Amino acid sequence: MAIQTNADEIRALFPEVAEIQDPALRDGVVDIWLDLAQETAWERFEDIPKNLKEEKHMTLIGHIQGVTKMALAMADIAESLHGVEVDRDLLIASCILHDISKPLESAPHPGGPPTGSEVPPGKITEFGEKIQHGVYGAHKIWAKGLPKATELAHLVITHTRTSNTRSKSYEAALLFYADWADSDAGIVLGGEVPFSAKWVEK
Ligand SMILES: [Fe+2]
Repeated sequence: MAIQTNADEIRALFPEVAEIQDPALRDGVVDIWLDLAQETAWERFEDIPKNLKEEKHMTLIGHIQGVTKMALAMADIAESLHGVEVDRDLLIASCILHDISKPLESAPHPGGPPTGSEVPPGKITEFGEKIQHGVYGAHKIWAKGLPKATELAHLVITHTRTSNTRSKSYEAALLFYADWADSDAGIVLGGEVPFSAKWVEK
């Protein structure tokens, strides 16, 4: 299975792609999404769940849109109010690519438990069980030869606490907090305990 799509549809899903100044990076981000459309077991972008647990009622695409918009909104404030410099190309590309492995981490599960929304039931794949989140995004970034590939892969890898590397860059901080803020929006909507309430030192 795969998702039938094209570059224009990818650019419509993620309009911030157009704000990427480097044409090679702009096209590369779209190209990686076109690859994943071919590789996924899902047939529609809007069916791919954000995850299979507390956010199974949320879509991956909606999450990525939320993360990108939240990160850019925070970047605007940090720049205008505090004078922090943000590499917008890196920030936008990393937001749109940070969960690029997720279309492979789950697959349709017809007849599975309902999600409580329009999102159809999904199940974890062998890829989802065996490959650490973030790794495949980094692989794609290098395989496609994207500009600033090492820094971009670094941002994708460090966005998740499952990685044992952390980033000191401000772009990474914006992606990291936007990812949690958007995730918690979905968890709160589902009536579950947000990640922010779980960050307690034991
Ligand atoms: Fe995410």
